[in-house]
Amino acid sequence: ACTPPFDIVFFGGTGDLALRKLVPALYQAHKAGLLDADGRIFALGREPQSLEGYLRTLEERVRPGLGADFDAGSWAGFCGRIRFRQLDADQQADYAELLDALGGDPGRITVCYLATAPRLFITICENLARIGMNHPNVRLVLEKPLGHDLASSNAINAAVGACFAENQIYRIDHYLGKESVQNLLAIRFGNTLFEPLWRREWIDHIQITIAEELGVEERGDFYDQTGALRDMLQSHLLQLLCMVAMEPPSSLAEEAVRNEKLKVLKSLKPFSDEDVPAKTVRGQYRGGAIRGAPVPGYRDEPHVAPDSNTETFVALQAEVVNWRWAGVPFFLRTGKRMQERVAEIVIQFRPVPHALFHTPFSQQSANKLVIRLQPTESIRLHFLAKEPGDAMNLQSAYLNLDFHTLFKARRADAYERLLLDVIHGRLALFMRRDEQAQAWIWVEPILACWDRHGIAPKPYIAGSWGPAASSGLLSRAGVVWHEEN
Ligand code: BG6
Repeated sequence: ACTPPFDIVFFGGTGDLALRKLVPALYQAHKAGLLDADGRIFALGREPQSLEGYLRTLEERVRPGLGADFDAGSWAGFCGRIRFRQLDADQQADYAELLDALGGDPGRITVCYLATAPRLFITICENLARIGMNHPNVRLVLEKPLGHDLASSNAINAAVGACFAENQIYRIDHYLGKESVQNLLAIRFGNTLFEPLWRREWIDHIQITIAEELGVEERGDFYDQTGALRDMLQSHLLQLLCMVAMEPPSSLAEEAVRNEKLKVLKSLKPFSDEDVPAKTVRGQYRGGAIRGAPVPGYRDEPHVAPDSNTETFVALQAEVVNWRWAGVPFFLRTGKRMQERVAEIVIQFRPVPHALFHTPFSQQSANKLVIRLQPTESIRLHFLAKEPGDAMNLQSAYLNLDFHTLFKARRADAYERLLLDVIHGRLALFMRRDEQAQAWIWVEPILACWDRHGIAPKPYIAGSWGPAASSGLLSRAGVVWHEEN
């Protein structure tokens, strides 16, 4: 369905996120006819420039990325929605002018998307509140990282919470907007087949991987102070874990889903000082090659300290201590400059209780469900089947559901779906304040222990699957990462 009339204001409208993700996502929604004709996009930037200048930037930076989705007519119509305004986040007068330009109609849905450095979040919110741009039809979108640790994220949330009601705040984790993450709910709660098995009695362990081929690109400055645990694990990986581990919600209403996710986060077993060296692996890439092309090591990347000890890879073993999951290891890992870009969730079922067949697959059970989020979306159910012929020889086989082949319809990018959700006022796929705090509460002791004990990242070659210790983490539990099978 088409949105209601709206204004969307991008703070950081000339920044990387706006140009790489937000503007293209809105273009796609526009082209698909999902935006009301009376929907305007206000891009804000620090430096003054004309609308023509900004549209030229979009022409150079956004249009090429659209590839075959570019359509001259749609593009022209889309550009007609765009306004550009100069705004200095600290200048109160600039906000008054912004309000004038918007028209100040409190009945109109107005989305303020903060795609800026997080240090500006509080100032922007306070300035918006000062001019009344926090009325109930204003929705505030906060991009990650929301703080650096629990204290700084609490400080931001408290200051923002003093200006906006919680149900006006959309904390974005773009992984929740991915089609296959939605599909995870469909698999679990739309089918009778899996849910009865979705527990410790039948599941041996779970793996969640988000591997990237990219390095830190132009974000060395930010990344060197952040690292993989904060950048990816605290947010995306824990959100995926919640979707896998949560109890069936009573409905898909926002609070029902968010309450169940919070319960999972609260059930995560805290890491003790002894657990951290045994159950976490930090890594940092050295020079290597990605698809045959040489790439530099992390410490040689622009804006990265030459002696940096920031991790670009993290693997860990988590446990959800509740009735359903006690004793089932959840292995999580993410890294930059890995061998392949892949994001997937692997549900490894237990072996059969009594082995009737001689198979070469004795080490792990035959059954696993592999839910792939990236680069393509698919679900594979692995099992054993008999080879044709005389002997009772079993072969590993799988059922494959490839979403791109099955469904021909256009697939919205995560940002497109989430931006539409904001305009429609749907909060279910956004993180509530308590969820986010809980994720920090769990992650902080790991960071503190790495620090206290001087646990430096182990080097790994760019283009590999991370440090050898990552395989070691699993082999201690008698299992291997899915790609090593
Ligand atoms: C972002 C991280 O949140 O997610 C980046 O800050 C990372 O470092 C990106 O590259 C990965 O997202 P996706 O959708 O490309 O897998």
